[in-house]
Amino acid sequence: MSLSQQRILILGGSNGMGLATAQRVARASAEVFIAGRTQARLDVALDAIAGRAEGLIVDFTDPASLASAAERLGRIDHLVLAASSNAAWGPFGEISADTLRRALEGKLLGYWQTLQAMLPILRRDGSVAMLTGAASRTAMPGTSGLAAVNGAITQMAMTLAKELAPLRVNVVSPGLVDTPAYDGMPEEAKRGMFESAARNLPVGCTGTSEDVAAAV
Ligand SMILES: NC(=O)c1ccc[n+]([C@@H]2O[C@H](COP(=O)([O-])OP(=O)(O)OC[C@H]3O[C@@H](n4cnc5c(N)ncnc54)[C@H](OP(=O)(O)O)[C@@H]3O)[C@@H](O)[C@H]2O)c1
Repeated sequence: MSLSQQRILILGGSNGMGLATAQRVARASAEVFIAGRTQARLDVALDAIAGRAEGLIVDFTDPASLASAAERLGRIDHLVLAASSNAAWGPFGEISADTLRRALEGKLLGYWQTLQAMLPILRRDGSVAMLTGAASRTAMPGTSGLAAVNGAITQMAMTLAKELAPLRVNVVSPGLVDTPAYDGMPEEAKRGMFESAARNLPVGCTGTSEDVAAAV
């Protein structure tokens, strides 16, 4: 399938796996739009894509921000949902209802509202790819909050794949991937987490943003 001239919007395209996806589809001559909340991050990302994309300031928790992005774009062929904020990590007993609510708003509701806002401008037989997360398909203690958010997206996507056909709706469910999402961790703790995850995986390594971009 050629992506040449296809208009692709990537929410969360200014960092991590969204950015790797933007770089990949830009190399395939797509017309790429990356969206996120911060201009500085968009600027660095646009440099990394060598000017072969446009940046849009969008906060997907804000319907007005999504409506103005849809108006500016006019039409798109494909939508990639790769953003998230306020992930609810940690033991079940330590995740308050407020923390879970913020995590749901920062991913499930964001995906929901973005798709609703973009549907009128999305090609009827185009595609939607949603990044979920391994916590939704493996029982890992300490990830009940991630499982709740990402599991809800997975189930929602299965229903939407039928309801919105011929639009193709898919999820891509990454395991642990070294992205700037972990920049806030002390370096040693981060290295320990990735090394331990790699040891426990049959392939002996964690994934990269480029692996996920290829799947998207
Ligand atoms: N990294 C992992 O190990 C891992 C594992 C499994 C699943 N995932 C999932 O994979 C996806 C990508 O993860 P990543 O690690 O590549 O993320 P990341 O590096 O933290 O990047 C997140 C992106 O989302 C944007 N964003 C955050 N909140 C937003 C909002 N309210 N509105 C619009 N844009 C927003 C950020 O830009 P601004 O901050 O400028 O808005 C940034 O571009 C996420 O859905 C994450 O949950 C990640």
